[in-house]
Amino acid sequence: MKRNFKRKGRFRGKHKKVDVKIKLPHLFRVGRDVATENLVPGQTVYRELLVEKDGKQLRLWNPKRSKFASAMLKGMVFDFSGDESILYLGVSSGTTASHLSDIFRKGIIYGVDSAPRVLREFALLARTRSNLIPILANAAKPEEYSFLVPKVDILYQDVAQSNQSDILIRNAKAFLKKGGIAVLMLKARSINVAEEPGKIFQQEQEKLMKAGFKILDRRRLEPFQRDHLAFLMKWGE
Ligand SMILES: C[S@@+](CC[C@H](N)C(=O)[O-])C[C@H]1O[C@@H](n2cnc3c(N)ncnc32)[C@H](O)[C@@H]1O
Repeated sequence: MKRNFKRKGRFRGKHKKVDVKIKLPHLFRVGRDVATENLVPGQTVYRELLVEKDGKQLRLWNPKRSKFASAMLKGMVFDFSGDESILYLGVSSGTTASHLSDIFRKGIIYGVDSAPRVLREFALLARTRSNLIPILANAAKPEEYSFLVPKVDILYQDVAQSNQSDILIRNAKAFLKKGGIAVLMLKARSINVAEEPGKIFQQEQEKLMKAGFKILDRRRLEPFQRDHLAFLMKWGE
């Protein structure tokens, strides 16, 4: 494969190559990494590398900057058609959401964040990508944005808070369709810095299952993110 790197960013993957099952539209393998087809050709969002392949412009997806990419490189399989609706809690300035925007180009992504500074950046990104909807709100209070968000197919959460699981459960009850998929990026150190991460993950898993989630997969995200675990779950069946 001929690779034509435009050096617009610093990242090139140095991790070992693992098998990644590609079950998402506009997602590609580039060497050891994954990349998405740029919905807005020429645009870079976080100084990621742009790669030309088979007449398509791809954005290299940095697994150190995005837990979604690291989960894929750790073997988690995301199987979606690209027309789903997503509620994204902790969207920040849109690093990960920009790649989801490349993939879910027939769907819609409601991005919630409580920090005005990063949400402003995400709102600027949303001006260039019509499938992104910025919402400035506290994800612990879903009633604050219930008038804006309909029932969704996918709930994605990356908020790094001590009550991460409770926030997810509250939002699933309010917005996730029955049988919908939830992806939770759990940060052990946000819950308890003193406790062993494996123990925290187990406790949180039990809480999530009790609330009605079925665990489909779970992956530790080292070496990309320390003391993080990704949960892939199904809601209410
Ligand atoms: C680790 S960063 C998210 C990075 C982002 N998901 C990405 O991959 O591009 C965590 C984000 O969660 C947001 N956050 C924390 N607590 C929140 C809450 N209660 N409601 C909404 N957003 C929250 C923070 O402002 C921060 O932007």
